[in-house]
Amino acid sequence: MIKIAPSILAADFANLARDIQKIETADYVHVDVMDGLFVPNISIGVPVVKSIRPTTTLPLDVHLMIERPVRYIDAFCDAGADIVTCHVESDTEENIHAALQKIHARGRRAGIVLKPKTPAEAALPFIHEVDMVLIMTVEPGFGGQRFMADMMPKVEAVRAMIERENPACELEVDGGVDRNTAPLCIAAGANVLVAGSAVYKSADIPACIRELRG
Ligand code: DX5
Ligand code: ZN
Repeated sequence: MIKIAPSILAADFANLARDIQKIETADYVHVDVMDGLFVPNISIGVPVVKSIRPTTTLPLDVHLMIERPVRYIDAFCDAGADIVTCHVESDTEENIHAALQKIHARGRRAGIVLKPKTPAEAALPFIHEVDMVLIMTVEPGFGGQRFMADMMPKVEAVRAMIERENPACELEVDGGVDRNTAPLCIAAGANVLVAGSAVYKSADIPACIRELRG
């Protein structure tokens, strides 16, 4: 079963509660956290995650695009994150392990994220301890970018790694996912699709979510 995680980066930030209600047929609420250092943009932080937590029963899938995420794990867990994913490029291997351990110590699901230029093998040191691997299909930082179809071999490679090493792990893709590109992601082995623009620009959001599931 394919899961859909709409990104609220494409929602109206003045009406977040309303826009989260609109995606209640989805599986996760994808929350893009950017610090202006790891990526050249600043978006949502801890207080916003805390504010949206009571507005939905869906799990909050918090994608940290920040330097040294280990510093903020407790804060995002306190704010109500259910899944926390950290970029492997955002700190040393040792500190990423520490961040993942911290997330698990708080009873939440932990994941790693790979930027487009980061090879599938970068997931190997973490594959036994993660609940999710997120493969970026755009350069992180902005919504509404063009889907990178050349990431599909990497999705296939990580799917094979997951089947071999940790079959319960979820495989998520993020960036430029729409009705045309979702089938490519599913064929390559992704089981969670993030979609921002495609969902929030749609006139019929429940129908869009249904269509993306394939
Ligand atoms: C990009 C973010 C994505 C983005 C997806 O840095 O991680 O979650 O919001 O937006 P679309 O679906 O518009 O590419
Ligand atoms: Zn994201």
